[in-house]
Amino acid sequence: MRSYARSIALYERTKKSLAGGVSSNVRYAATPVPLFFTRGEGARLYDVDGNVHIDYVLGNGPAILGHAPKPVVAAVAESLADGQVYAAQHPRETELAERLCALLPGIEVVRFATSGTEAVLMAFRLARAFTGRTKILKFEGHYHGWTDQAYISARPSLNEAGPAEAPVPVAGSPGIPASVLEDTVVAGWNDLDRLAQAFARHEGEIAAVIMEPVMVNGGPTEPKPGYLNGARELCRANGALFICDEVITGFRAGLRGAQGRYGVTADLTIYAKAVAAGFPLAVVGGRRDVMDTLDKGVMHGGTYNGNVQSMAAALAALDVLEAGDGAVYRALEARGTRLMQGLAGIARRHGHGVPVRVQGLPAIFQVFFTDGPAPSNYREAVACDRDKALAFHTALQDEGIRTNQQAKWFLSTAHDDAIIDETLAAADRAMAAIA
Ligand SMILES: Cc1ncc(COP(=O)(O)O)c(C=O)c1O
Repeated sequence: MRSYARSIALYERTKKSLAGGVSSNVRYAATPVPLFFTRGEGARLYDVDGNVHIDYVLGNGPAILGHAPKPVVAAVAESLADGQVYAAQHPRETELAERLCALLPGIEVVRFATSGTEAVLMAFRLARAFTGRTKILKFEGHYHGWTDQAYISARPSLNEAGPAEAPVPVAGSPGIPASVLEDTVVAGWNDLDRLAQAFARHEGEIAAVIMEPVMVNGGPTEPKPGYLNGARELCRANGALFICDEVITGFRAGLRGAQGRYGVTADLTIYAKAVAAGFPLAVVGGRRDVMDTLDKGVMHGGTYNGNVQSMAAALAALDVLEAGDGAVYRALEARGTRLMQGLAGIARRHGHGVPVRVQGLPAIFQVFFTDGPAPSNYREAVACDRDKALAFHTALQDEGIRTNQQAKWFLSTAHDDAIIDETLAAADRAMAAIA
């Protein structure tokens, strides 16, 4: 057993001055306490107790190039002497905007923000201003940030969530006013009939449909063939905008995100996380006619938007990710596939009562313990055995492998073949320990 004594002591001390001892509630989900790290390099994190972790959490997605990626760190270091915020424009913003518009599907024009949460709010406002409608349709199990408007039915208890064919919007936190629920329609994902029925129930009211084009937060699940384009067509037919939240899938599902992977184009897209390889940046982009409402009175602000270091980081990350015409992503896919198949094989060998499904994309997947069908939506994903997943996570951590508590894995370009081998050997011991 590894010791976490220093993390435990530091957590107790931190709780006295930092509310709950964490800066994001997501970080409570840690064993035995939220751990304290001193350093990250490549695929590894180093904690205050001297434990080394091969990290598959990667800041929940941003560290697509691993921790402290040298080209990005060098570019940011070089930019530091230029200053940080001007409350004005600077050439790095122009260059990044041009490169993103040239690269990404459906992106005619972009606006920079700082976090995914606020970028989602901007997209909601744009959609409402553009369509003159107020309701936003979102899907069960999809997470779009923690605000009143978005943190609805992101992880609802099925006792409160109503029938699968017409779910009830569930506020995700005390303090969210009931009034915002009136402007939110919730549907089950990956089912075009249910989406069509929701449109019919709210005819002429829905400004936009927002989704994670691959459901990741509710359990990594690919869209069924034709689902994304079908949803897009339903939006068109009903006068609503189609918003893809690619905060996780952007620069992870592929260089051109989930839209590039599945051949669909949204009206508006949100990118964050991997776009700046660990630095704070979010991007809203899409149709010029929609984005142009910003030029016609729709308000969007933010002191840190387009700050010098985030621009420098994103430009340097793009240089790495675009190199070799997709070579970076081909390597990432190959290693991720090997890891997924390796984990599935290990689970089969150890057979411990509950069958295992390793599901998602090579760069973001989850180990589901279930004897049911492959989850295709949130309700099926939460029906899987979460205690087993937690036990696996804990056993992995004891073997030096860091996943999140649902046994969800993010992959970076720093996870080379030797690290995958090391991981599979550790996973074999962890699986044996929980068998
Ligand atoms: C799909 C998705 N959208 C939005 C957000 C919110 O982004 P941020 O944490 O940068 O506010 C997240 C965060 O995990 C996310 O996964």
